[in-house]
Amino acid sequence: MTSHQEVHTAGSGAMSVRTQGAMGQLSHDELMKAQQETLRTPRRHYGLGARVLFALLDGVYGKRRTLSKFKVLELVARVPYQSWEQVAYIAITHTYARTDLARRVFDRVTESRSQQDNEQWHLLILEERIVREGLKEGWVKFTVIPQALAFVYYQLSWLLYVVRPAWSYRLNADFEDHAEHEYATLVTEHPEWDEERFESVFADDYARLASVGDLFRQISYDERVHKDESVTHMKEPRFR
Ligand SMILES: [Fe+2]
Repeated sequence: MTSHQEVHTAGSGAMSVRTQGAMGQLSHDELMKAQQETLRTPRRHYGLGARVLFALLDGVYGKRRTLSKFKVLELVARVPYQSWEQVAYIAITHTYARTDLARRVFDRVTESRSQQDNEQWHLLILEERIVREGLKEGWVKFTVIPQALAFVYYQLSWLLYVVRPAWSYRLNADFEDHAEHEYATLVTEHPEWDEERFESVFADDYARLASVGDLFRQISYDERVHKDESVTHMKEPRFR
């Protein structure tokens, strides 16, 4: 076990191990509680950009919650963090002479990168599961369209961030809120996942969790952490 890992004992007696990949890994009991909190909490009042995106996703991939649809969500989810990172690096180029400010901008870069990495683990774990279940995915629907969506979403996040960062953070908060609720609901649709052990080649990188149910509860919780960070930045959007 590496220095950044911690052992948790879940309520069921099963052991879970914290690694750096998850956004603060919870125990089984905490995950159950977090899922119920999410299901009880009303969704945010989504802005126009988010509503258009969700309608597009439902139109192309259907309203049903499938692993393939979640994979598309994860592909798009990384994009705002990439765009913020790029803008922040440009900002450092213009502010490095003012060391305090450059330091704060760099802290924001570091945060964006860790959120991006977290979304990357979600994506890899989903892809692994899709391959294992032998789910068929069309090339256009699950490669071309997601990349086009991600490209447009990147430009939108970038532009909003340059014009008014709070708008870009709000769009991301809406996106992450939607993902948090969708994952929490997905778990309720699959009670059999609580009986299935979570086994993945990425478990050491992300988190060692007792069951597949807990895996998706943890992902839902990660999305909540991302949402909360964006909501905080909406209030102090510049690099203060
Ligand atoms: Fe995610």
